[in-house]
Amino acid sequence: MNKVLVLHGPNLNLLGTRQPEIYGSETLNDINNALYEKAAMNGWDVTCRQSNHEGELIDAIHAARVDGTAAIIINPAAYTHTSVAILDALNAFDGTVIEVHLSNVHKRESFRHHSYVSLRADGVIAGLGSQGYLAALDSLIRGAG
Ligand code: DQA
Repeated sequence: MNKVLVLHGPNLNLLGTRQPEIYGSETLNDINNALYEKAAMNGWDVTCRQSNHEGELIDAIHAARVDGTAAIIINPAAYTHTSVAILDALNAFDGTVIEVHLSNVHKRESFRHHSYVSLRADGVIAGLGSQGYLAALDSLIRGAG
């Protein structure tokens, strides 16, 4: 079975109540449930995880290197713009990496325009809200990843 890890970074546990004008009104559970449903319909194995801690995200990427995970869909949130450590961990992962942002980071403050993770990502989706995660999974299922 095709195994995908979906990683959500800091503050994304607050989705639904956190700046809904930017990030939408769906909760993280809503997003994860839509991903689980799409995966189940297609016979894929998706695991969703969220952490507010950089090291936990890195540990999850390390685990994905050795547990048969074929692809990582990651919204590193604020760590996108700061974390060389997450970039290094992703560089040590052999599968497909898709970076997702709910908001269009390029339309926002200039510090959000740079992404360390984009140096590794095979694809980047920004500004499509929660649909971005589903588009990422769809691209993997269709084999574009
Ligand atoms: C985000 C964009 C980041 O700049 C921000 O720090 C986030 C969420 C997004 O999904 O739009 O926390 O990754």
